[in-house]
Amino acid sequence: MKKIIAASILNSDFSKLGEEIKRSEEAGCEWLHFDVMDGHFVPNISFGYHVLNCIKNVSSQVKDVHLMISDPKKYCKNFIDSGAEIITFHLEALKSMDEVFDLIEYIHSLKCKVGISIKPNTPWNALFPFLKMVELVLVMSVEPGFGGQVFNEKALEKIEGLNNYRNENKCRYLIEVDGGINFLTAPLVIEKGVDVMVAGSYLFNSDDMKASVKSLLGE
Ligand code: DX5
Ligand code: ZN
Repeated sequence: MKKIIAASILNSDFSKLGEEIKRSEEAGCEWLHFDVMDGHFVPNISFGYHVLNCIKNVSSQVKDVHLMISDPKKYCKNFIDSGAEIITFHLEALKSMDEVFDLIEYIHSLKCKVGISIKPNTPWNALFPFLKMVELVLVMSVEPGFGGQVFNEKALEKIEGLNNYRNENKCRYLIEVDGGINFLTAPLVIEKGVDVMVAGSYLFNSDDMKASVKSLLGE
């Protein structure tokens, strides 16, 4: 299956955000990855749903919203109303399995796809109870909070495990990886079965984003 590149605008130039998004679409990024941080779940603050609402029609990319916030249920309707097509929340943000089931059902009831994410120190088997219900699993290959960090190889065995589990159990989720993706790390995650690669600084710091996207896809 063709791999998808999701451009993370976190480290793009916000003085010309619309142009940066168009640049990523023209370069071949099929998804736009929107990193939401609340200064509580992670030690950084980024942007909220008003920004998403402003940029949702700038491109026809899939709007992939990654909520790094302590209370995802409180805000996911705002993001869906603002154009989110996939809402990914963090397993670590919720206190019980019941809360996780409830949030997955809630997002589905709002006619939106659901992703669930784990940080580098969370084992992927913590996701077992939920894997049949979600459309996406997001494996963090850095501690969430900042762009431009170094890829953590713990992500590789998680991607491999999730890919094998999916094949054995006929699950439908896509596997996405986020953090430290560049031309050196992309082949490693592709080999393990990833579907979607989030890339931020590698793309937005590039003078030739089209060539950089191709380097991620191995073209
Ligand atoms: C980190 C964010 C990532 C990050 C990716 O919390 O979720 O999306 O911005 O950035 P790079 O590609 O620079 O590691
Ligand atoms: Zn992200």
